[in-house]
Amino acid sequence: MKILAFNASPRKSRGTTDVLMEAFIDGAKKSNADVEKHHIVDLDINGCLSCFTCWWKTPGVCVHRDDMDWIIPKLSEADILLFGTPIYGRNITHYMQRMVERTFPLSLPEMFVKDGQTSHPSRPRKIPSLVLAATCGFPDLNNFDQVRALYPTAVPILLPASQMLFNDEGKEYLSDFLDAIRLTGQKMAEGDEIPESLKDRLIVEYSDEMKSTVIKKHNLYSASRLEQ
Ligand SMILES: Cc1cc2nc3c(=O)[nH]c(=O)nc-3n(C[C@H](O)[C@H](O)[C@H](O)COP(=O)(O)O)c2cc1C
Repeated sequence: MKILAFNASPRKSRGTTDVLMEAFIDGAKKSNADVEKHHIVDLDINGCLSCFTCWWKTPGVCVHRDDMDWIIPKLSEADILLFGTPIYGRNITHYMQRMVERTFPLSLPEMFVKDGQTSHPSRPRKIPSLVLAATCGFPDLNNFDQVRALYPTAVPILLPASQMLFNDEGKEYLSDFLDAIRLTGQKMAEGDEIPESLKDRLIVEYSDEMKSTVIKKHNLYSASRLEQ
């Protein structure tokens, strides 16, 4: 199994999104998956110019010469595509959005309707399974509404108040969640279906009491930082 992973956090390996991604990769490696991970901020990816050259003038090939030159073919070789993104403004980061827009050459110009939804068909290629790991700072799950709507077919791994990962107590609280991510990585790399019971463990939902604790801790931390 080939796993291609992209982290859309500018904090790269110092951030919390990467912790989720590494847990998935850890599990996948137990099943001998071939894993390649990149931090999008390190890549040279120009913005789409909306010139439509990749549709009508040089079908499948963009006018830009940058890292998308090797990313586009790799996207068609991967069995699993793992995207990691922090939530910024209740959405995916612009780093991820820019990369996703540049996958336009993978689609054909025609429009077609499936399940009442108009879209463009993909050029003939292997379509990888999509896993989306997202983190956010607020403790409420609705910060992920946009990302879930954008990628309805992805296996979602969602962690609100991801700063919990920065202290031992929080890590302990999230140990079952991290185990579930590892197990998902392992199973997907074996080509297994993910049972609903395991999918449920990939989404962290806090009690109201826990949310209050998160908010109190954040406000104390924030005040102490301001005083320095
Ligand atoms: C510009 C910016 C916008 C953010 N917007 C949101 C938001 O809308 N909702 C939220 O819950 N957290 C928001 N956050 C917090 C991040 O989602 C959170 O810190 C995330 O876990 C960071 O991931 P990382 O540690 O991998 O970089 C925002 C952070 C930044 C820097």
